[in-house]
Amino acid sequence: MLRSILLRLVLPIALASCVVAFFGVPYVDKLLADWFRSDVQMRAQLVMSSMQQPIAQMIASGDRPKLRTYLSEITNDKRLLAIAICGTDGRPIVETELTPVTVSCASAIDPHVPAERVVHLPSGSVQISRFAFDRAKPPYDVLLVHDLSFVDRRQRTVRDFIVVFVGITVILLALLIVLAAWLQLRRWVNMLIGDIRGRRFLDDAESPRSSVPILSQVRQVLAEIEQQQRLEIDFRENWTPKALRQVVENHLDSAQVLIVSNREPYIHNHGADGRPIVQVPASGMVTAMEPIVRACGGVWIAHGSGSADREVVDRDDHVRAPPDNPEYTLRRVWLTAEEEAGYYYGFANEGVWPLCHLAYVRPEFRASDWRAYQEVNEKFAEACASEATTDSPVVLIQDFHFALLPRLVRKKVPKATIALFWHIPWPNAETFGVCPWKSDILLHMLSADILGFHTRYHCQNFLDTVDRYIECQIDREHMTVTHQGHVCRIAPYPISIEWPPRWLKSTPDVATCRAEVRERHGIGANVFLGLGVERWDFTKGIVERFHALEVLLDRNPRHRGRISLLQIAAPSRGQLPAYQALQKQTIAEVERINAKFAEGGWQPIVLIGEHQSPQRVFELYRAADFCLVNSLHDGMNLVAKEFVAAREDEDGVLILSTFAGASRELPEALLVNPFDVTETADAIEAALRMGREERRGRMRLMRRTVKENNVYRWAGRMLMDLARIRQRQGLPSIAQRRAADADA
Ligand code: G6P
Repeated sequence: MLRSILLRLVLPIALASCVVAFFGVPYVDKLLADWFRSDVQMRAQLVMSSMQQPIAQMIASGDRPKLRTYLSEITNDKRLLAIAICGTDGRPIVETELTPVTVSCASAIDPHVPAERVVHLPSGSVQISRFAFDRAKPPYDVLLVHDLSFVDRRQRTVRDFIVVFVGITVILLALLIVLAAWLQLRRWVNMLIGDIRGRRFLDDAESPRSSVPILSQVRQVLAEIEQQQRLEIDFRENWTPKALRQVVENHLDSAQVLIVSNREPYIHNHGADGRPIVQVPASGMVTAMEPIVRACGGVWIAHGSGSADREVVDRDDHVRAPPDNPEYTLRRVWLTAEEEAGYYYGFANEGVWPLCHLAYVRPEFRASDWRAYQEVNEKFAEACASEATTDSPVVLIQDFHFALLPRLVRKKVPKATIALFWHIPWPNAETFGVCPWKSDILLHMLSADILGFHTRYHCQNFLDTVDRYIECQIDREHMTVTHQGHVCRIAPYPISIEWPPRWLKSTPDVATCRAEVRERHGIGANVFLGLGVERWDFTKGIVERFHALEVLLDRNPRHRGRISLLQIAAPSRGQLPAYQALQKQTIAEVERINAKFAEGGWQPIVLIGEHQSPQRVFELYRAADFCLVNSLHDGMNLVAKEFVAAREDEDGVLILSTFAGASRELPEALLVNPFDVTETADAIEAALRMGREERRGRMRLMRRTVKENNVYRWAGRMLMDLARIRQRQGLPSIAQRRAADADA
């Protein structure tokens, strides 16, 4: 700091002083010279007037020796060097001894020579003053020669004095400035430290009053920085739709966002009266993605699967969504029945779905399904290209229906930034190895910039699979795969739900929900109510859950009549034999168990094999005493998170499968191995016995996790990573840099 004060303050002052001295000293010199000369001139006149009489007499008398003696005596004066009396013929009448040779009487008669002049002699300057006595008899001129060397000496002394004076002044001034600046800086620093410690930037009133404008500027900048930091902290800790929008605007430069999924967020089906009615599908993927698209805008490209879907689109196959408050565009892609059969039912749901879920259902691989899968992926790639309004949109591809899409989109829109999120588990390399088209699938996926999975474990499985079947470079530290120069990042992004879920706004309080649900399904007010909500899928462990309840009722008959399980099973993929078999088995098991324990009007299991609206589902979450999520295998499972979000009363028990991704984030749930029905029965029993305080403690922790790790954070993290990749791609590669260097 001292150095900078010296450089910035003292140096300019020193320089300015030098400049002043440089121009000032000659001026002072001249001034002094003029003063001294006029003094000398006055003196000459005085001397002349005192000599005038005697000289006139001595000249008139012609007594030259006397005149010389007289003049010599006068020139004893140190300053008066010489006196010469000249005749009008230019010849000296009398000259004193030291009269310089150059001071000639001849010049006295020259009318061009001034009466008063300075002559520089080798011995020093002299001033010659001429006095003419033309009327005297005989006429004569007197030249008085004054020594001016004392002027030079005095000038030198004054010059030295000025230099020393300026020097000392500058040094003193510098010291004073340094001291004053140092003290002032210390005062500012102390005030700033006080402001920082007291966090007073945003509150002017509390700030110590300061008249120093610079200080208020510093404060303002610090206040801005603090505000920015607060926003960023908010960003990291408190993800909201606004924060997500900011990511798109600031980090992705407001790039166009395209979302691609098979399932559409709103399905238009024909109602009983033949008019289109809107349905929200039972899909974890839709639950997660919908709030994201609402926040970011953009276009959602999906299969138009509803019976009335074509009736509501415009000529570009667009419809605005959500229907009640449009915020984004839904672009519907039409598939033929054959395409849907091969791509969706066949390859996706009979091949990839059982392949990736360890539910021990054998995957079916048919070449015709694979062809349909390729064709439909191509169709969606075309839709992406036609919806892109820029050459570098951000394309967020969802799920196992579109494993080929990253490469197909990359071919059509090379500069697109592409992420594929795999919403289901990824199996180990050996399991995946049974897929006949494994290499094709992996190579197409690796064209993405980011491949996302719910858990690190699934990422590792994917890397192992790539390692085994593809020739490429794998960096396990940075979790990247480089294939033919393209770098693909593999990362875990645990998906979540919006917080608070929008459906909660219209959901009645817990007491009302409890009463209404029990009334609707004929469940007694004192019955302990368990809830299961999912698509009717063999991965969900629906039958295993019934068996667990059976074990509980077998071993503890006193629970009979006191506990019921309300099972919502939304029919799904019902054309497939595995799903048809599951539905049959489920119904049969419900009938068997209900018959086994029949007692008055009580039913151990209430099965609702119908799709329920999200509002209804949230009502059920609030009405339940416990929620059973015992999936045999699940990428994440958002029912678990929705149940937690719905319980603003901090009550209710969550029983959760260790094979669901959600179990990594919600260890406060009662975790069970879903294949072990006894363990699940124990967990139901524990839920029955658990006290209010423990229920509150567990629920509170889970609510905090779901609130913080909401779906905006999920999307935000992925979009931030995409933004970084995008920025990096904008920089020249090493090869390009070398080429540029070579050209130069
Ligand atoms: C579950 C999975 C999602 C998947 C969806 C498909 O919700 O978690 O990843 O996209 O099922 O369901 P659908 O009814 O569209 O076949």
